[in-house]
Amino acid sequence: LDAFKATLDRLTGAYALAVLIEGESELILGARRGSPLVVGWGEGEMYLGSDALAVGPFTQHISYLEEGDYVAMTRTDARIFNAAGVPAERAIVKVAASSALVEKGEYRHFMEKEIHEQPDSVQHTLSEYLDLVSAKAKPAVVDFAAIDRIQIIACGTAFYAGQIGRYAFEKYADLPCDVEIASEFRYRDPALSKGTLAVAVSQSGETADTLAGLSWCKAQGLKTAAVVNVHTSSMAREAEILWPTHAGPEIGVASTKAFTAQVAALLSLAIAAGVARGKIDAAKEAELVKALFEAPRLISEALRMDAPIRNLVQDLAKARDVLFLGRGPMYPLAMEGALKLKEISYIHAEGYAAGELKHGPIALIDEYTPTIALAPMDDLFEKTSSNLQEVAARGGPVIMIAPENAPDPHGAGIRRVHAPDAHPIATPLVYAVPMQLVSYYTAVQKGTDVDQPRNLAKSVTVE
Ligand code: F6R
Repeated sequence: LDAFKATLDRLTGAYALAVLIEGESELILGARRGSPLVVGWGEGEMYLGSDALAVGPFTQHISYLEEGDYVAMTRTDARIFNAAGVPAERAIVKVAASSALVEKGEYRHFMEKEIHEQPDSVQHTLSEYLDLVSAKAKPAVVDFAAIDRIQIIACGTAFYAGQIGRYAFEKYADLPCDVEIASEFRYRDPALSKGTLAVAVSQSGETADTLAGLSWCKAQGLKTAAVVNVHTSSMAREAEILWPTHAGPEIGVASTKAFTAQVAALLSLAIAAGVARGKIDAAKEAELVKALFEAPRLISEALRMDAPIRNLVQDLAKARDVLFLGRGPMYPLAMEGALKLKEISYIHAEGYAAGELKHGPIALIDEYTPTIALAPMDDLFEKTSSNLQEVAARGGPVIMIAPENAPDPHGAGIRRVHAPDAHPIATPLVYAVPMQLVSYYTAVQKGTDVDQPRNLAKSVTVE
């Protein structure tokens, strides 16, 4: 143990270690710095794993090691020490049984299963924040009236969920909201007013940059909240306010149901903020709450579009570059679509605000570069539609995801995927589904490793 401690003192960087020693069959040593590590307490057996999910099939009794902790484990016991080498007490907590949920069941991939779980995961998450019976937002732990700004910090998919949240906070609550990639935010010395609420958004709750951004805000004396899917994670424990999402364990590396759960939580919180700030009256509140609770049904409807999408992707799978376009909240969704496609199919893709097309990306358009447009029937539809005509006029293949009753843009080569018509607040939740299915089936068509794409990790606990 002394040698182990002396070794740890000489290591730099982030790690989670499990050490076996030849000839010592009754001892496992573990240590963490920068990466999570948990001790699982079984009956006559002990476990060491990266998180509760990893040891979930064996035990639900977990101790979370804290930063710098190390542990000496036998078959029946664990002695935990802090970074200074002093014995430390780490509570044994009981986590929800989850092993049954991590089977693929009838699905070919976890990602496919998780896409299909979204009616439930969105419903569960909405129910955390909204009450369907009274058609009201539940009071949020924070006093939104006392806040003058929201700063969302996140990475990757969670960053795009945050951007969708921003549209809602500003539109429905008149609450200024900034969203920044955590790896930029944490090193930039941002100027934040004392009335700012810092909100970390994260599936895992362990992403190193997001956690560091959150801790920085806390150290500045700001109020902090975390929208997280793993409710026992580092961020859940670090933030003053825990705003849970209820997506359940997400196994596919490419995030799907955790993303829509984040969006559902943020949209719901925006309604609560709107009410608290007197920006929406009871009638508007009821309209928005009911509209969001329609989303699970509309998502189920969107899931039935998988056959036409499977046909469409035959061509898409041959593309080298793909452009995703959207306006309003469909713009971050377009960026999320592009991220999803590149992650699992390795096709280069970019998400753009449709209005930016003329400012550069249109130069990419040719007959080999498909454009996928997210075009709900809102007050921006006509504008997106005319952008698609411009693409089609330059010979670019177009896939337009829009309601069945949306008028056809004039132009040859525009193919359609029908998405259910939804209230504007619910549109991002509904349109996420065809966008995910496009990526999923394209990857299946290409034969890539959908659940574990090359070079990617589910939880990015290092910078
Ligand atoms: C994309 C994806 C990543 C994560 C990002 C943040 O499909 O999964 O972009 O969204 O690494 O992870 P969390 O949400 O765990 O902080």
